[in-house]
Amino acid sequence: MKALLEKLCRQRRLEREEWEGLLARRREIDRAGLFSRAEAERRRHFGDAVFVRGLIECSSFCKNDCRYCGIRRSNRRAARYRLDRATVLACCEKGYEWGFRTFVLQAGEDPGLTPEGVAETVRAIKARFPDCAVTLSLGEFPREVYQLWFDAGADRYLLRHETADPDHYACLHPPELTLAHRLDCLRDLKDIGYQVGAGFMVGSPGQSARTLAADFCFLQEFRPHMVGLGPFIPQKDTPFAAEPAGTLEDTLLLLALVRLTLPRALLPATTALGTIHPQGRELGILAGANVVMPNLSPPAVRGKYALYDNKLCTGDEAAEHLAGLKKRLKAIGCTVAVSRGDFPGAEGEAKNKC
Ligand code: 5AD
Repeated sequence: MKALLEKLCRQRRLEREEWEGLLARRREIDRAGLFSRAEAERRRHFGDAVFVRGLIECSSFCKNDCRYCGIRRSNRRAARYRLDRATVLACCEKGYEWGFRTFVLQAGEDPGLTPEGVAETVRAIKARFPDCAVTLSLGEFPREVYQLWFDAGADRYLLRHETADPDHYACLHPPELTLAHRLDCLRDLKDIGYQVGAGFMVGSPGQSARTLAADFCFLQEFRPHMVGLGPFIPQKDTPFAAEPAGTLEDTLLLLALVRLTLPRALLPATTALGTIHPQGRELGILAGANVVMPNLSPPAVRGKYALYDNKLCTGDEAAEHLAGLKKRLKAIGCTVAVSRGDFPGAEGEAKNKC
């Protein structure tokens, strides 16, 4: 176990069987030691900076039917809304005043959000806030559409791969969605020039040491700039309503392992992590995460973007409570960075130091 962690720190990669062995026996890992290594790695590249991104949940319509997700199309009880451009811009306006320099536009795969309409929104945000980064998280689209949005000024794209094991992917998704297509999208995004975020839920039904080993092999090959990783939380109107949630312990451990694999990655301590534990986000940062994404959506729609049950939306994860968040981060030795917080680049990626 110890030898495998040493090897990971030295080489930033493990063989698939090594990953599987490490992950199967993860309960034996010295967690305090692992977290302090991951935190040291974060500090080496980012100092005490934690980056904030303002999350705008633009639409809760979705044409997909992912089994885990509360806004899947067959959920008749999901409340649906779509923000118009003026509302999205008003969210950015408020966010800018509060100090945000990255706006993340996230939505279900909503046919009502047309490629040209999104491009126009991106252009409007970049014209109004030229010093800000725009991140899109709108799902799978043809390469031409990703290119259109990139040309409109979008900087980053979040598209979690969800699991890198094809059978597990099929257990989480309807048959029309495939891992192969997901990965094609991720490659297209990187190729176009986006900073790209992949990622997966921790503790999703069917996840195992074997599927997690596939996730780590994918991450160490693809080397995304960002990795979104949060616990699976059941949503009561989905087929996975009765499945257990992912644990805090596993999420922290996997965050730390991602930090050791991709030392310069932007790694959010997610809202889902904050939802399963009151100090979830701080603990995530202490395990190597370095991004938080407070909710900038209009308060009236926040409850409607219900991917899972009991999602936090009124406490310090709300963008208007940035002062509260700053205080909580200060208490763990971190400061909120005001810059756009771009991926720091690969040059000089120091190996062999942890
Ligand atoms: N629990 C936790 N995360 C979820 N997501 C969707 N449904 C859930 C859930 N029930 C995550 C997916 C998706 C991201 C936007 O939210 O990983 O990529």
